Amino acid sequence: MRDILSELEERRRAARLGGGQRRVLAQHSKGKLTARERIDLLLDEGSFEELDMFVRHRCTDFGMERERPAGDGVVTGWGTVNGRQVYVFAQDFTVFGGSLSETHAQKICKIMDMAMLNGAPVIGINDSGGARIQEGVASLAGYAEVFQRNVLASGVVPQISLVMGPCAGGAVYSPAMTDFIFMVRDTSYMFVTGPDVVKTVTNEVVTAEELGGARTHAARSSVADAAFEDDLEALAEVRRLIDFLPASNRDRPPLRPFFDDPARVEPALDTLVPDNPNQPYDMKELILKVADEGDFFEIQEEFARNIVTGFIRLEGSTVGVVANQPMVLAGCLDIDSSRKAARFVRFCDAFEIPILTFVDVPGFLPGTAQEYGGIIKQGAKLLFAYGEATVPKVTVITRKAYGGAYDVMASKHLRGDFNYAWPTAEIAVMGARGAVEILYRAELGDPARIAARTKDYEDRFANPFVAAERGFIDEVIMPHSTRRRVTRAFAGLRGKRLANPWKKHDNIPL
Ligand code: HXC
Repeated sequence: MRDILSELEERRRAARLGGGQRRVLAQHSKGKLTARERIDLLLDEGSFEELDMFVRHRCTDFGMERERPAGDGVVTGWGTVNGRQVYVFAQDFTVFGGSLSETHAQKICKIMDMAMLNGAPVIGINDSGGARIQEGVASLAGYAEVFQRNVLASGVVPQISLVMGPCAGGAVYSPAMTDFIFMVRDTSYMFVTGPDVVKTVTNEVVTAEELGGARTHAARSSVADAAFEDDLEALAEVRRLIDFLPASNRDRPPLRPFFDDPARVEPALDTLVPDNPNQPYDMKELILKVADEGDFFEIQEEFARNIVTGFIRLEGSTVGVVANQPMVLAGCLDIDSSRKAARFVRFCDAFEIPILTFVDVPGFLPGTAQEYGGIIKQGAKLLFAYGEATVPKVTVITRKAYGGAYDVMASKHLRGDFNYAWPTAEIAVMGARGAVEILYRAELGDPARIAARTKDYEDRFANPFVAAERGFIDEVIMPHSTRRRVTRAFAGLRGKRLANPWKKHDNIPL
């Protein structure tokens, strides 16, 4: 018996070694942790239950039968993050470069199936050279099995990808279908084809970092939702994010203890909006002042900064925030910001996370670049997303809500539940100057008359009361009481039940 026990220990020890000490050192020398070290940091101490530690590949081509390490390049199982269950896989770059074989894929699929069955998030740590070249179509089939599960799990359990190494080919398409992608600066890359292929095909010379590094994807392509300094920071931030999310679409978001008075008054908000309507201010100040303990997990901070998206808590309960940012492009809606916010709104709606919208939007960004890029359909994504969302929706207009953008930003007409405005709100088809220039074109040569017309228009429309008279604004609120008002509003919506008409699925403009 003792022999059998020690044999098990010996087998486990060998499996834990992965690709061997030399490759582990190489991994560390690049500033990267190993798959097991990453899992240890991601999960609560001692909570990891490993599965399939002894799985080996079955490939016999290219001499592969002589090299069959236990585990086959991926560590899989489940554990807890602050006591809540998650499923996890971490590719082991020290074994065949973390490349995906048929059996490697089967291990990932097994935990994805279990996550769906039991209703818990899947966190994938990707560090892989893509399809295992020696296995050919068997590894392509393995990828497709993972892709299919990504699709089926979408909207059922949160799926989070950490990209922590070079990921090419198939290795990028599975993360692409998950809810959030986080990368690490200088050690992680994502591209469909690497710099060498790019040079051959298009003659472009580009570094891996420029082509698919964390900065590129977080700030430019928006493939990544955030870029972190190192593995440690990325793993700690994913733990933080998990705390905001429900385990599945069958659960409510977690309720956390809170130590912040829901009725907290913030006098500074009364002077947040400057007297000059063209002067910007930082919308994040409002978000931080409204959130429990000022805790805000921002999504896509570096991309389309004219709109801010992320998670806060009110009375301990998760709320998704979407806010125009007057500091960037005056907070206008454009292609990038519409796409960014639409995806966020849809995530919230899929997982029953209520949505809080702060509005200060002068309209859609005009211009040929926007029109040629399809702003009509891109902007419609956000309109569609808000219109289909059935979760509680609370909106606060702080300043401008002009034109179509007024409609889009969770207006009353898109089934907004509570639509508030600050006294500084201006709800109109457009700004006073633009309106007067159209309505009184014949008088443009007379500056005094135009000034009088502009003043007239401002007095009539640059306020929230015309909309409030019609009931499009439920209440004009004091800025300093915003936290109390929105917290009460969401408390009043806990029993909300709203369903859209039956359909197979909608046809959001893609
Ligand atoms: C088998 C692989 C491998 C792969 C790397 N290795 N990629 N083994 N299949 N795809 C092995 C290497 O042989 C090496 O083994 C070890 O992993 C580490 O690789 P290095 O090249 O030494 O590391 P590094 O210099 O850091 O470069 C990492 C890399 C590079 C950028 C990932 O290895 C690379 O370009 N690999 C190939 C990428 C690729 O073209 N994959 C196929 C994509 S197509 P030893 O024994 O020396 O440690 C695809 C199709 C799916 O994925 C499409 C679905 C839509």
